[in-house]
Amino acid sequence: MNIIRSLKGTHDILPEESNKWRKLESIIHEVCLQNGYNEIRTPIFEETSLFSRSVGEETDIVSKEMYTWADKDGTSLTLRPELTASVVRSFIQHNLSNQSPIQRLYYIGPLFRRERPQKGRQRQFHQFGIEAFGADNPEQDAEIIAVAWQILNRCGLTNDADLNLNNIGSLECRTNYKSALKEYLLPYLNDLSEVSQGRFKSNPLRILDTKSEKEQEILKSAPLISDYYSPEDKNHLEQLEEFLNGMNIPFKINEKLVRGLDYYSRTVFEFNSRILGAQDALLGGGRYDGLVKILGGKQTPGIGFAAGMERLLMIMNKERFSSEKLMPDIYFICLDQKGIHIALRISKDLREIGFKVITDPLRRSMKSQLREANKLGTRFALILGESEIQENSVSFKDLVNGTQKLILQSNVLKFFDDLIK
Ligand code: HAM
Repeated sequence: MNIIRSLKGTHDILPEESNKWRKLESIIHEVCLQNGYNEIRTPIFEETSLFSRSVGEETDIVSKEMYTWADKDGTSLTLRPELTASVVRSFIQHNLSNQSPIQRLYYIGPLFRRERPQKGRQRQFHQFGIEAFGADNPEQDAEIIAVAWQILNRCGLTNDADLNLNNIGSLECRTNYKSALKEYLLPYLNDLSEVSQGRFKSNPLRILDTKSEKEQEILKSAPLISDYYSPEDKNHLEQLEEFLNGMNIPFKINEKLVRGLDYYSRTVFEFNSRILGAQDALLGGGRYDGLVKILGGKQTPGIGFAAGMERLLMIMNKERFSSEKLMPDIYFICLDQKGIHIALRISKDLREIGFKVITDPLRRSMKSQLREANKLGTRFALILGESEIQENSVSFKDLVNGTQKLILQSNVLKFFDDLIK
């Protein structure tokens, strides 16, 4: 019989890895809450139109990468390819703007994009992200970038990543700039790749972030978006730069950074890793002042980012994760069936006061249980044999230094409590 395997582009997170995941998650929860962001959890699937209306019909995500199917009643449903649209839907549906003029939300969860799998690119992957609604001032942008910075810094990644920043202007600025860019590119149309020729029609800005050297050469003398800024666009960027400098967050202005989702306006940014290969974007985000209205809500500015957790974990320094507080682990060896209920009770009580305790449901010999305890790196063993049962005691053994002593069963909790003081 064939063994069933996980699907292409999906991964199991096995126990040895899930420890790292939990630690990354705890950093995210801690930093987000510290900055006033509260967790939101939205469903994994939504109506397809939520994504086509927000991310944009012409984007790669919507046109090529979504897992979409018709439900039994004919409604088109999609596994979420990103979370900003879902968070905006929820923000509108639950009238969150009524609760306070600024809503700060964060999330952690799986997403689905049918991309060609490669290193750092999966079909099911995980993001954490934050979104802030209600303020269009640049200090809100600075706050969002500072949260990203703080999390990456806690993960030890800020030395190996560059923050690329751009302002893609308001809608009017972008419309004028797109015409100028198209005019400039027209004579080179035949030199562009098929993908870029398609983008020339649908979204010429996306040609700017081409990876092709030939196209980058052509773009060297292309018009710059900064020449099309309104005074407000210019002012927004200048103030943001000032705030980031004030917080000592290094960044590079990169006028070629446009991002692959249609909802952005003004600020866009990305943290790119210097160690990851082709898929080097660790975290990306930007301002989306028109999105709440596009999805049927009141005009509300918004800004946020999301980071790929697999990518962060690929380059996170493992040592950072080994500084877990040392807790004595206990392996409870019961050698007599009559003692099992005692072993189960004492183990449960020890766990309740915070110890990690392992028992052996295979009823194996003392030797093999001790071998198992050593394999797991357990510090202490408790041994309950026939004589201990008769004396209402249990033998304690320190597996590191070999110390052994007999303790009364009624004294076990106090004994371990004193041991860690
Ligand atoms: P995005 O740039 O599409 O933005 O994704 C953000 C991050 O998710 C990327 O920088 C990357 O680390 C990770 N990522 C994306 N696709 C994959 C994949 N196939 N496999 C592994 N990791 C991946 C968004 O999703 C926006 N919603 C971000 C945002 C929030 N903008 C405003 N608020």
